[in-house]
Amino acid sequence: EGKSTVSITVVGASGDLAKKKIFPALFALYYEGCLPEHFTIFGYARSKMTDAELRNMVSRTLTCRIDKRENCDEKMEQFLKRCFYLSGQYDSQENFADLDRKLKEHEAGRVSNRLFYLSVPPNIFIDAVRCASLSASSANGWTRVIVEKPFGRDSDSSAALTRALKQYLDEDQIFRIDHYLGKELVENLSVLRFSNLIFEPLWSRQYIRNVQLIFSEDFGTEGRGGYFDNYGIIRDIMQNHLLQILALFAMETPVSLDAEDIRNEKVKVLRSMRPLQLEDVAIAQYKSHTRGGVTYPAYKDDKAVPKDSLTPTFAAAAFFIDNARWDGVPFLMKAGKALHNRRTEIRVQFRHVPGNLYKRNIGTDLDLATNELVIRVQPDEAIYLKINNKVPGLGMRLDRSNLNLLYSARYSKEIPDAYERLLLDAIEGERRLFIRSDELDAAWSLFTPVLKELEEKKIVPEYYPYGSRGPVGAHYLAARYKVRWGDLEVDQ
Ligand code: BG6
Repeated sequence: EGKSTVSITVVGASGDLAKKKIFPALFALYYEGCLPEHFTIFGYARSKMTDAELRNMVSRTLTCRIDKRENCDEKMEQFLKRCFYLSGQYDSQENFADLDRKLKEHEAGRVSNRLFYLSVPPNIFIDAVRCASLSASSANGWTRVIVEKPFGRDSDSSAALTRALKQYLDEDQIFRIDHYLGKELVENLSVLRFSNLIFEPLWSRQYIRNVQLIFSEDFGTEGRGGYFDNYGIIRDIMQNHLLQILALFAMETPVSLDAEDIRNEKVKVLRSMRPLQLEDVAIAQYKSHTRGGVTYPAYKDDKAVPKDSLTPTFAAAAFFIDNARWDGVPFLMKAGKALHNRRTEIRVQFRHVPGNLYKRNIGTDLDLATNELVIRVQPDEAIYLKINNKVPGLGMRLDRSNLNLLYSARYSKEIPDAYERLLLDAIEGERRLFIRSDELDAAWSLFTPVLKELEEKKIVPEYYPYGSRGPVGAHYLAARYKVRWGDLEVDQ
């Protein structure tokens, strides 16, 4: 232990992700004492910068959690001393050989383990991987590479990317991040299902009417239009984040908690799904809206977005899983930017109680009488179950109440950022929360045909005002499957 080192190189160190997520997560891990004794962090990018300038840039992004203010400044100082910078080209083996030399100096003869975090645009991935692996691989320890989406933009380009990566790396060296898998409540899904008696027996077509996966953000693509226009919301959120949640939600019980066992089950359920059909998708794009004297921009107002762009910033989709457990149960997804709130949640709507004795006491809307389990991934993490309850008093009137597990009320600890868990797992070689290549293939197969069709037929999106609840198309789609979106009601 004492004889090995871990060097973490953030390739693309001056980028947004590095500043917002990677360095802060590394610091949080350091603060918690989760990083190995001998570690070094290198920033690598094209711009010229000194170590001091990097430290200065990084220090501006670091914060201490509310419950961890003690020694914060001192810890930051110590952390920053372990951060260094090297400027180089992403396609230069020579520059990566310089990096190799620097890393060696810091490793000082110990066993060298190296983690590369590729925080660079997709067109640079392969060059950077080639140079890192040929010129800066560890000689006597492990070498791992974390890559971020986009992993291609359809089945073919994704497969090509995987092939290219595998020229230089083995599958077990590649850590494909989907940061939603690092979120506390997403990780908790399996705990909820498999460690409580009361959920799993209900987890099937027999009791569940539909499942809803909802993502909304209250801001647009501001500043990211250039990236976003080539991808759109289906690739940006559905094909990865929401589909991953769906897989964990719907998979069979894994043989064990080992990475391969879990990922085998995820692949199985993804492969049991029907590829998305055009009639099961509704797309929309946000338009400008003025409220309270403030004008919010349209998607197309972004300078990097073509004026005739048809790229969806909102989509709703209906999926079906053709297996014994889920036959006929609609899994509805909805994802959008520039909506009225920021929220990610899973909603499970249960069937009606057969022969319900109390239907007269519920009022006219029978839908209201069904149970609904809500797992709120963010913000204000919570799990709650809507049940019917007698309104106290002499009459016999029922209302819907919540059995409520609100994290902030139950746990005083602040929840770590997803990137902390994922970085720690990568350092420890835990692959459970990373995407295996067959999983990625299965995910793309579900979306590729419809993405092609949308583009070829130049399907025009519906328009919804910035800050609204989204387009009506989402309601029509849900209604086709007799579903009502659960997030329209006020829960609590
Ligand atoms: C990213 C998407 O993967 O996830 C962004 O590219 C999106 O468009 C982001 O804003 C949302 O992540 P989070 O953790 O803020 O919900």
